[in-house]
Amino acid sequence: MRRAVCPGSFDPVTNGHIDIVTRASVLFDEVVVAVGVNKSKHRLFTAEERLDMLRAACRRFDNVRVEGFKGLLTDFCQEQGIHTVVKGLRAVSDFDYELQMAQMNASLADVETVFVPTSPEYSFLASSLVKEVATFGGDVSGLVPDFVHERLVARVAERAAEDDD
Ligand code: PNS
Repeated sequence: MRRAVCPGSFDPVTNGHIDIVTRASVLFDEVVVAVGVNKSKHRLFTAEERLDMLRAACRRFDNVRVEGFKGLLTDFCQEQGIHTVVKGLRAVSDFDYELQMAQMNASLADVETVFVPTSPEYSFLASSLVKEVATFGGDVSGLVPDFVHERLVARVAERAAEDDD
């Protein structure tokens, strides 16, 4: 059985992430979408909220499950008995960091990384930009699933109210 992990922070899941998961689900028999912790990034949603949104977004796939992990991705892969990591590449600018992570992960465990080019319509799409645009009132409704958009708008409003206090 061909199995792969699709890791990310998913804060929040975007249509670009779903594009990569969709294509991984065709290439592999089973895909585990793994919600991890990238310590260098500021979070808008808790791990539970991110898992919840991803599970809703991935309900349509028969061969995809969503799990959270703490610590190293390679440890999670070993626990799950999975040797392949799938990462989306939006542009050349993604490549340096993704290559570095792929090589580090390969040095830590028996893990191969497969890069899938993002569909062109999503090549500019990043959770960080979606959060920034939403924070300043921009329309991101076409970039994330509808239920994510609702939660994003609500969370941004909560944060704005907290900042006013
Ligand atoms: O969506 P992101 O933020 O690009 O996802 C990055 C993530 C979570 C996949 C990456 O930071 C990660 O694998 N974190 C787990 C800790 C780890 O294994 N770090 C070493 C990476 S070489």
